[in-house]
Amino acid sequence: MNILFHSTFINNKQWLRNIKKKFKGKKIYTFKDKPNYDKIDYAIVWNLPDKLFAKLKNLRAIFSLGAGVEHILNLPSYKDTPIVRLKDPALADRIFNHVLSQILNHQLKLEHYRKAQKAKIWQNELDTYLNNQIQVGILGAGFIGTIVGQNLQKINYNVVGFKNTPVKKKNFFQIYSKNKLNDFIKSSDIIISILPSTPNTTNFINKNFLRKMKKKSLLINVGRGTSVNEKDLISHLKSNKNFYASLDVFKEEPLSKKHPLWSLKNVIITPHIAGVTVLDSAIEQIHNRWLQITKTGIIKNDVNLKKGY
Ligand code: GLV
Repeated sequence: MNILFHSTFINNKQWLRNIKKKFKGKKIYTFKDKPNYDKIDYAIVWNLPDKLFAKLKNLRAIFSLGAGVEHILNLPSYKDTPIVRLKDPALADRIFNHVLSQILNHQLKLEHYRKAQKAKIWQNELDTYLNNQIQVGILGAGFIGTIVGQNLQKINYNVVGFKNTPVKKKNFFQIYSKNKLNDFIKSSDIIISILPSTPNTTNFINKNFLRKMKKKSLLINVGRGTSVNEKDLISHLKSNKNFYASLDVFKEEPLSKKHPLWSLKNVIITPHIAGVTVLDSAIEQIHNRWLQITKTGIIKNDVNLKKGY
């Protein structure tokens, strides 16, 4: 049994150490070891380049080190090797923390006080809403979206979700699907996009979508930059001064120095840090799935290749 690890994470060495510790006694390689590629059974990866992926001809499964899987699906050499998606509640909690920080920053008008501080002004109190006066819409109510929504509900926000595929079982909060997109957009005071990058979500948030959002509103994107038409968003932000965006993901990352989003007053930019993979808990999840696979011999693809997610 041979496992290959490859990632572009900054703390790559620590990842390798901890994976080796968890998969005690198993052979864990990196490309630097120049293993016999034909004998690699499993790959644990984040941003594996295609020319390296193409060497792994006998892979039984690929474990994604992130929630998103487009880094695998977009590889020209990828066909249908089963992908094990990372479903980590700790990662969802981390995204929740980020989202909550952005909601509160907006809700409590903290930017105004920051600005006042810079000018040494003792700003009179500003009117703010309570949590139960705000409806938050989760665009892409999947594994992460559901946890984020439930956590927001626990602290009294009104939560609704949107999912492309109709929901059969009862959810924790109301889920709108396909033909109810307008109701979802119009009833939300704040929209959090957790959409994955798929052909169906490309430019999903465009001028038609933005026009339907409330004028005084906040869009938080912690999903993927491909789901936003950036041109449309920029012109919407320019003509609606009470519309805010908190963006963690972009069409091209890193965001170029020349990008107009940097200098808009009603935008907060973070550099794709909302959902940084949580090392130990991700390794725990991956190890559990690997044990299950080796015990049962069953490997199903977590990804629906038609939907691209
Ligand atoms: C981060 O963007 C992830 O896909 O986990």
